[in-house]
Amino acid sequence: MARLQTGQKLVVASHNAGKVREINDLVQPFGVEAVSAGELNLPEPEETGQTFAENAILKARSAADASGLPALADDSGLCVDALAGAPGIYSARWAGPSKDFALAMRNLEEKLQADGATAPDTRKAHFFCALCIAWPDGGDTVYEGRVDGTLVWPPRGDRGFGYDPVFVADGETITFGEMDPGRKHAMSHRAMAFAKLVEDLFDG
Ligand code: IMP
Repeated sequence: MARLQTGQKLVVASHNAGKVREINDLVQPFGVEAVSAGELNLPEPEETGQTFAENAILKARSAADASGLPALADDSGLCVDALAGAPGIYSARWAGPSKDFALAMRNLEEKLQADGATAPDTRKAHFFCALCIAWPDGGDTVYEGRVDGTLVWPPRGDRGFGYDPVFVADGETITFGEMDPGRKHAMSHRAMAFAKLVEDLFDG
């Protein structure tokens, strides 16, 4: 049963401008009015979960309770095979308090180099996304998606955010940082999770 109608107000439970922009782009065609947690001055809960899904639920539940509106949260990150899935749920934290992703990408590259991971097949990674919709009257659902690819060095492009400049999705030659945002939206981890949400929550 569809539970999100045209004109429905929805909180995007994120304080990350890049994610808010991408989620806005995703929900906009469905006529949903998205407001961000930042605009509503909602508190930012501590991400104490051990999985992407647990953290997405924490964020969506907190925003739904504080706003009285349905809330959509994204918890996502980059998982590198050669680093046993790191940075994973700590992807944002690797950038430090100043959100310095040039530094986070450099740290990642140094660890790969230290492991001798120079050949493309030793540099496999995926972006993972858990999207949670939480309802103000209780209940929530999580939708997950991933996109597989390879890490490149040096970083290329300034069109995305986070680790986009070092990620080339399988079958592509340019990084997510170089890619037209519309094209990234068609293949990203967030897009895959969102497609499942759409099937569940919106009228076809
Ligand atoms: P969190 O979900 O707010 O804990 O942070 C997720 C972090 O993962 C972001 O700050 C980015 O560093 C990274 N990330 C998630 N999705 C993407 C993406 O689509 N492109 C690049 N980096 C991403």
